[in-house]
Amino acid sequence: MRQKLVAGNWKMHGSRTFTRSLLAELAAAFPDGAPCDIAVCPPYPYLPEAVGCAAGSPILVGAQDISAEDEGAFTGEVSGGMLADLGCRFAIVGHSERRSLHGESDELVARKFGAAQRHGLVPILCVGESLEEREAERTEAVVGRQLKAVLDSAGIEAFSHAVIAYEPIWAIGTGRTASPEQAQAVHAFIRGLLRSENATISDFVKVLYGGSVKAANAADIFAMPDVDGGLVGGASLESAGFAGICRAAG
Ligand code: PGA
Repeated sequence: MRQKLVAGNWKMHGSRTFTRSLLAELAAAFPDGAPCDIAVCPPYPYLPEAVGCAAGSPILVGAQDISAEDEGAFTGEVSGGMLADLGCRFAIVGHSERRSLHGESDELVARKFGAAQRHGLVPILCVGESLEEREAERTEAVVGRQLKAVLDSAGIEAFSHAVIAYEPIWAIGTGRTASPEQAQAVHAFIRGLLRSENATISDFVKVLYGGSVKAANAADIFAMPDVDGGLVGGASLESAGFAGICRAAG
């Protein structure tokens, strides 16, 4: 049985005050221990604040991105070593907004995945198709290509220390979620692809769903056998709603 994980992706939202109050409210929501694994991924400047506020609570902290490089003349980049030094445990790699707005290729995402693992961080590898690709029945081709780029460079063993997030682009921030059945179908495809390389690792790896998850729809999606929690954007910015999603994963 895989323990579920709910990770909040704040995107470019928040402030120091927001970070302090959200973390305090979340910690207070689970006085008797968390119903599932919980992580928050604030913007870089708020990571130290988040790590400090989360200390002593069950909440872990992750970054929304990571440099593929370890050190050097890479202005504006933040390395895995720096994130680990701050106390981060996760790094999101290949979010669709990074792929589409910043031109990140499958190859760069695979290098970022490797960089996270070199520094002891658990990469949360995002994959997912656009609406156009879904309508052209190319979902499996696209998700398979995104996953294979990482498998080819990191190898199947790397997935024993990684999380995958299936995020259909058409469901991100749109209020339109994949149905539980649509999510399950792609999650089963992802797990099947890994199973052909190593059944034990494919049974163990967490595959999260992301795209307009809310407290009201989380339980139905999380009830699917291959859905191991969620990567939550908008609804992670409000503590009661986010706590409700975590409870739905319990
Ligand atoms: P959303 O974002 O929950 O606001 O749709 C999810 C994500 O982009 O990770």
